[in-house]
Amino acid sequence: YRIAVMASGSGSNFQAIVDQVQKGKLDVSIELLVCDRPQAFVVERAKEAKVPVFAFNPKEYASREAYETLVLKELQDRQVDLVVMAGYMRIITNVLVEPFFGRMINIHPSLLPSFPGVRAVEQAVEYGVKQTGVTVHFVDGGLDSGPIIAQRAVEIHEHETADSLTERIHAAEHVLLPQVVRWLREGRVSLDGRRVSVRL
Ligand code: GRF
Repeated sequence: YRIAVMASGSGSNFQAIVDQVQKGKLDVSIELLVCDRPQAFVVERAKEAKVPVFAFNPKEYASREAYETLVLKELQDRQVDLVVMAGYMRIITNVLVEPFFGRMINIHPSLLPSFPGVRAVEQAVEYGVKQTGVTVHFVDGGLDSGPIIAQRAVEIHEHETADSLTERIHAAEHVLLPQVVRWLREGRVSLDGRRVSVRL
């Protein structure tokens, strides 16, 4: 079972998957890291883990479709079964969504459909909700809008700051994301319209 990860930043979620694979707890082969910021720390993590990297600078392309066509070719050449978006901070187009619908997931730091988009953690603190959390969902054409596979709640404490909350959100993500990858790998997940069921 071959997976690729797409990420833009620090890559702690990428690392959480690598760690589970290295401990023998997740039976997948990480074929590729796709990164739209060649200087991002996640690229260092991939090199350390001996995962091949496809990094590109979107500014060097005429359109999203132009670089996504290259990404698609990389994914297809490596016969990737599942694409995991782990902090990939760009909208993707049909060039990637269509060929991978049902085989591409994203992790988002809120209980969707609350607080889609960037700054989800800050927005939850500012809004004053008492719980937020993390969501793993299939990717569709919208912004954080695809069918939800799993969610985990995180309490918001009094005097919480975005920084302190981000730490606990990350801890929840690092458990949930490898877990969902395991479910998919084991064929436990089925999709019926918007509704996802997981056989545990
Ligand atoms: C995560 O919080 C993810 O939910 C969000 O971006 C962050 C990426 O963190 N979309 P990292 O790069 O995996 O450390």
